[in-house]
Amino acid sequence: MNFASDNIVGASRPVLEALVSANAGAQPAYGGDDATRAVETMLCEIFERDCAVFLVATGTAANALALSALVPPYGLTICHAEAHVIDDECGAPEFFTGGAKLAGVPGVGGKIAPRTLSDWLAARSGHEKEMPARALSISQATEGGLVYDASEIGALCDIAREAGLSVHMDGARFANALVASGLTPAQTTWKLGVDVLSFGATKNGCLAAEAVVFFDPARAEAMRFLRKRSGHTLSKGRLLGAQLQGYLAHDHWLSNARHANAMAARLAQGVVALPGARLGFPCEANEVFPVLPRETVTRLRAAGAMFHPWSARSLSAGERVAPHEMLVRLVTSFATTEQEIEAFLSVARG
Ligand SMILES: Cc1ncc(COP(=O)(O)O)c(C=O)c1O
Repeated sequence: MNFASDNIVGASRPVLEALVSANAGAQPAYGGDDATRAVETMLCEIFERDCAVFLVATGTAANALALSALVPPYGLTICHAEAHVIDDECGAPEFFTGGAKLAGVPGVGGKIAPRTLSDWLAARSGHEKEMPARALSISQATEGGLVYDASEIGALCDIAREAGLSVHMDGARFANALVASGLTPAQTTWKLGVDVLSFGATKNGCLAAEAVVFFDPARAEAMRFLRKRSGHTLSKGRLLGAQLQGYLAHDHWLSNARHANAMAARLAQGVVALPGARLGFPCEANEVFPVLPRETVTRLRAAGAMFHPWSARSLSAGERVAPHEMLVRLVTSFATTEQEIEAFLSVARG
């Protein structure tokens, strides 16, 4: 009954098998290996265009390096106030950009509303004493487990473009959001105006592998230097290439995400039927955010269930968590089983 996150499990079998088979023989180092080359081609096919692809081992490195390629040291990146880039990366974006800052804006469930972005931009003075906004970073799925739809992404990108901002998407859970949207990878990214995607894979079946995808290769000119000087160009690049090759082949990444999302939907359905429980945010991908009576939380913890309490800052107006309640986050993964969910619900029912 471990719903603490989707990085608590190891790698899925095809990823491990790909690693083992890529282990044999000599290969060029630093990303010149066959597996990395194959992944670059696969991602171009998946996104239906020529992309510049850079593999790294962590989501924090992917985000911070992507922003460092888009934003000068004096620039600002607008993101949600609870975004991973601003709250959970120990200042890596500021560090990698050489001093650029992040500005957090509010929004229900981690989503930035187009109106919030345009109002924020309209309130800027343009004076040189203010850091100028240079990028927008949105998380797909969001930190509240929500999925931006195409019209929301399109509207945000249009506003960003008008104001001269680049658009970065933190796709740590891109696969989960994608299968929930029913759209193609291209339809939810560059066709709407996204410039750079942190294509997450660690949470959905890899051990440690992410790809920074530039939809305009001309904008990636500095990236190989930025990655190397940050220590994220692996000598044995096959370690990353092989994982992603196994992950992408035969749509394995999509099957994993569909499973995780189906498990979350089932968990959400069971949770809303619990006495005194409700969802803080709708379940749209592989995360469930119930508001539970504290006695239910205590009973679940006593039975060994693992999950994290969650901040109530992004609940919608009018929704509040009473003193006898707690907002928690339950995350499902490619490895979650129906039995785990039934066991959790059965303890929760008391
Ligand atoms: C939204 C989001 N972005 C990025 C990351 C990647 O972080 P890490 O550096 O732990 O791989 C995470 C992981 O928790 C996340 O939830």
